[in-house]
Amino acid sequence: MRVLFASSEVFPLVKTGGLADVSGALPAALAEAGIDIRILLPGYSQALDAIAAKKVVGTLGDPLGVGAEVRLLSGKLPDSGVPVWLVECPSLFERAGGPYQDAQGRDWADNALRFGLLSWVAAHLCTEASPVKWRPQVLHLNDWQTGLAPAYLQAWGVANPPPTAFTIHNIAYQGQFPAETVARLHLPPEMYAMDGFEYYDTLSFLKAGLFYSDRITTVSPRYAKEIQTAAFGCGMEGLLAHRAADLTGILNGADYQVWNPAQDAHLVHPFTPGDSDGKAANKAALQAELGLAQTPDVPLMVIVSRLNDHKGMDLVLAALPNILRLGAQVAVVGTGDRPLEDGFHAAAAAHPSQVAARIGYSEPLAHRMMAGGDMLLMPSRFEPCGLTQFYAFRYGTVPVAHATGGLADTLVDTGYDTLMTGSANGFVFEHCNAGAFQWAVERAIGLYGRKDQWARIIKSCVGQDFGWSRSAKRYMDLYKAMTGEAKGKRKA
Ligand code: ADP
Ligand code: GLC
Repeated sequence: MRVLFASSEVFPLVKTGGLADVSGALPAALAEAGIDIRILLPGYSQALDAIAAKKVVGTLGDPLGVGAEVRLLSGKLPDSGVPVWLVECPSLFERAGGPYQDAQGRDWADNALRFGLLSWVAAHLCTEASPVKWRPQVLHLNDWQTGLAPAYLQAWGVANPPPTAFTIHNIAYQGQFPAETVARLHLPPEMYAMDGFEYYDTLSFLKAGLFYSDRITTVSPRYAKEIQTAAFGCGMEGLLAHRAADLTGILNGADYQVWNPAQDAHLVHPFTPGDSDGKAANKAALQAELGLAQTPDVPLMVIVSRLNDHKGMDLVLAALPNILRLGAQVAVVGTGDRPLEDGFHAAAAAHPSQVAARIGYSEPLAHRMMAGGDMLLMPSRFEPCGLTQFYAFRYGTVPVAHATGGLADTLVDTGYDTLMTGSANGFVFEHCNAGAFQWAVERAIGLYGRKDQWARIIKSCVGQDFGWSRSAKRYMDLYKAMTGEAKGKRKA
């Protein structure tokens, strides 16, 4: 089965969050399971630099009038060797800065054109006019940046297009642009309608994906239910409830090639999962690296996260004085909203032996945090899946998290029963406020002092398998169902 997997970020080429991890690891797992998969990604400078051997596989003309010919380059993902196609368009993608924003954190002004082009190319590769012979049997799209692809297929009236699946990684990001973008992206005006991609007088890339795709998936079963409600749907709940029969939640996985404490090049002391001496050595090394007090018995709470309200980082700052009063240490690596960054900076300046804040993005430090921490704080207000809890489990770091989305699907709160049965793997709170979060932290600190019980929790954390193969199988079943349906439709 041939699958084209379009995404706006792919680890290890370019990453701002979990979408990159998924777009690197899921295609690799699918390829391993026999799927003939190609990843489609914008030709960002970082991606072009990271892929040594590239070939031009086709030219695409200048479909959206940027004033230069767009080309398709092929290469391979480092490590897994999965084939990647890069959309080469220097004026749109080769610039210093991130995939969505400049170095100052401002969205690129031409994002509609940039991701309109990505969507256009994804759709074009599904048509007779494609410059390459390899034609996908399924088009798998991810997040708003690829949302226009099924709209283009619809607009062009392509005969027998491959079925499309659209995966929501985070419904809060929607890609909304002014009405005039419709013409700029060569989309037909009649599709700018309620039964189309119009959304409150804007063009919504996300709505296009949700409206025109054959199937919709999201990254955990719980989030699939949540986004059909006003509290989590960010305005799309009506459309999603309407499409409930086509919507599935498939839990993400963890890439244990990248997140394996026994073979982790970022660690000073690689260790076997569950080895408490190895864990202690990493904790001491982390405390030393961050300038925290060298106290082995004080719980060290770590945060590896974007710093914003979605991740509940304001709740951490609100609860911080009480957490520090209980004697715990808190270490953060993250970037995001300025007031939150400043808040963590200020706390670190006021309590240097107890709080460390590394504001920035650092893959190596993220690994050392997982290895050296005792607990991972994740008070997310919503969390489509969350990947860091999987990494924490493997590294023997116990999540303290809000029961939402993928966190609710993967965490088992520590209580008398779950400790006895050996299923407790975290500390979970139901109501997302600073008090409830603090109570969960206090329970975690209390149990941390009971070494025998803490050891039981660690055992259950490290024993879990969230590898990608199970989820990849679910995607394969979905692809099979979709191609079966498409054949049925053609016969009818
Ligand atoms: P989201 O995609 O919403 O940010 P996930 O938990 O799915 O959340 O994925 C976050 C990914 O980004 C993880 O791989 C995590 O390790 C990584 N990450 C987040 N912040 C940082 C940071 N400051 N430095 C390094 N890695 C980070
Ligand atoms: C999004 C979500 C996160 C999820 C990731 C990968 O960034 O916020 O919860 O794990 O996508 O699917």
